[in-house]
Amino acid sequence: MSADAMRQARVQAGYDEASRLRQSLDLASVLDWAPHHTLRILDLGCGTGTLLAQAFERFPALERAVGIDMLAARLDEAAEKLRGHGDKVGLIAADLTQSPEVDAPFDFIVMTSVLHWLYPHEDQVFRWISQQIGADGHFVLTTYHPVADADGLGGTDELVRQALQLLGDTKGAATARFAAHGVFPIARRTRSVRHLRALLSRHFDIDQSRPQEATMRAASGEAYVRYHAATFGTYYSQLAPPAKERLFFEALGYLAEERMRRQGYITSMQVRQWKCLPYRGGLPS
Ligand SMILES: C[S@@+](CC[C@H](N)C(=O)[O-])C[C@H]1O[C@@H](n2cnc3c(N)ncnc32)[C@H](O)[C@@H]1O
Repeated sequence: MSADAMRQARVQAGYDEASRLRQSLDLASVLDWAPHHTLRILDLGCGTGTLLAQAFERFPALERAVGIDMLAARLDEAAEKLRGHGDKVGLIAADLTQSPEVDAPFDFIVMTSVLHWLYPHEDQVFRWISQQIGADGHFVLTTYHPVADADGLGGTDELVRQALQLLGDTKGAATARFAAHGVFPIARRTRSVRHLRALLSRHFDIDQSRPQEATMRAASGEAYVRYHAATFGTYYSQLAPPAKERLFFEALGYLAEERMRRQGYITSMQVRQWKCLPYRGGLPS
């Protein structure tokens, strides 16, 4: 099982199946916030194209659906999924922090489960997004808010630290590995609600924002390990000594099962959904 996880993590494969545990649960409610007149949609960090496929079902008149992602393998899966929609679909392999070229404007721009990967460039990305949105368009994004402990770790960071402890580290040594390997904890990448509100307000009018508790559950330790490998790749497993990477994934599976037994979930955090409109008040940034 863990040898498979190591292979899977190298290429972040299996995202379609894995994301059913967390990321895809947000997609329907994100689409609820699309303008009724949506004809052109842009999905930032589109992954395997699931949201765009659902958008075609919701908006049969959709004329253009563009997805951007930096992982070519995910875009290949998206292309396969969206093949039936022909040249209405555009898929672009690009880094969102590099202001990619797109055929703007769009009625609806979405970015789900992506923002923490853009740290610390959010302000620049929000400015670029504000330039791609139509006058009556909506920008909807989801942001993650795990509670950070005194070491700045929370959510998955904390599960990972426990796995490193199972491999023999003290808590302090496991925590120190994050800085030593340049792995910035997700609980810090995600920024606070207050900070994000201030950042978004520089470029948009925030129309609505709603929090929701997101609890991660998996049917088995193996299922959690597949989710982890598909979502985080080697981001966290690089913290383990190379000879212990397989054991690291085993430890994650063990801890996931143990938490499910003990508390009925593996991790829990707030996910916030934001609906933003083009900036109309005062001087734009
Ligand atoms: C957790 S997945 C979310 C995928 C999809 N939006 C969803 O909700 O299921 C994060 C996605 O963002 C992409 N991503 C991360 N950083 C990126 C960047 N700088 N530029 C483009 N895509 C990026 C990843 O490749 C990945 O597919």
